[in-house]
Amino acid sequence: MQPLEGFSARLLINPYICSMSEKAIVMSGIRPTGFLHLGNYFGAMRNYVKLQEEYTCFFMVADLHALTTHPDTRELKENVHRVLAENIASGIDPEKAALYCQSHIKETAELYLYLNMLAYLGELEKTTTFKDKARLQPDNINAGLLTYPVLQAADIILHRATWVPVGKDQEQHLEMSRNFVKRFNHRYGEVFPEPMAYNFGEDLVKVPSLDGAGKMSKSENQMATLYLADDDEMIRKKVMKAKTDAGPTEPNTPKPDYIQNIFQLMSLVSKPDAIQFYEEAYVKCQIRYGDMKKQLAEDMVSFISPIREKAEAIRNDKKYLTQVMEAGADKARESARATMEKVRQAMGLVY
Ligand code: TYM
Repeated sequence: MQPLEGFSARLLINPYICSMSEKAIVMSGIRPTGFLHLGNYFGAMRNYVKLQEEYTCFFMVADLHALTTHPDTRELKENVHRVLAENIASGIDPEKAALYCQSHIKETAELYLYLNMLAYLGELEKTTTFKDKARLQPDNINAGLLTYPVLQAADIILHRATWVPVGKDQEQHLEMSRNFVKRFNHRYGEVFPEPMAYNFGEDLVKVPSLDGAGKMSKSENQMATLYLADDDEMIRKKVMKAKTDAGPTEPNTPKPDYIQNIFQLMSLVSKPDAIQFYEEAYVKCQIRYGDMKKQLAEDMVSFISPIREKAEAIRNDKKYLTQVMEAGADKARESARATMEKVRQAMGLVY
């Protein structure tokens, strides 16, 4: 499904948008659990920047979600500031989108509580992210980890959002959000639209790691992940270490996954003629991976270094960051309060 473009986005595209002056609502979030990376950028933030021009957008630092895996809060403040700064440096305009911190919106906790009564133990236990995290932290399988998708649904539907720009790994959470919405609407009456994961009609993105195993990630496989804060030498070092082989010996050999990954990374940051050059060299069995990685490294440096430098300056301006968070929370609170009135009314919690 695709949101409509331009003026038509403000028309009646679903029954929850009830006047021509209202725009479709977009919501998404990022956990402050470490440095942001290329996966966060191309899976999510790149789309935030495009969507803020046309839609009513709520973008959030998910500090409450971070507590499910990172109970030690000593680095939390710095990480929250980093996520905000890196979002702004990547092109989010706090004047256009509401950019805020999850824990500043207390209504989230109330909606999370109500939704918990509509979420079943069996489905929560089967969630892929729950199983992965439970495996990684066997001594801290807390109830917050189990109900993580419920909190995420609360974040989204608190603004009655329809479009949720996220990477591929969040697909299951969005499906669960729709299930909670259907149950709520069925039991208490139509209050919420069903939210959809969104990537401009394209498949959701998964940015692969440089070692050919899995995806780029905030806290795992750090040498195989390109962070927006990496300096130029670190970027070059990581790219040059990416796994390759001696190259194909037969024309039209299918690419192994780790080689496909390098082409995919190139498609994100390199010019079309450079990509075409290496595609043709691969087909003709003339590819030199050393040269290809040098090209990729320089294109990554050109892409990442302006974001890093901008983010660094913003991160040091604590006064500005506080202002952004407060203004964002004001906008988010207004929307959250309006929704919660509808919710309490629908549930019969008005005495
Ligand atoms: P988080 O913090 O893990 O990731 C933030 C965003 O980055 C995307 N992403 C990727 N996309 C492509 N390739 C990758 N390698 C990659 N790694 C991360 C994620 O898909 C995500 O869009 N549960 C969410 C945070 C959240 C949220 C929300 C999201 C809390 N409430 C409400 C949307 C709506 C998470 O852990 O994202």
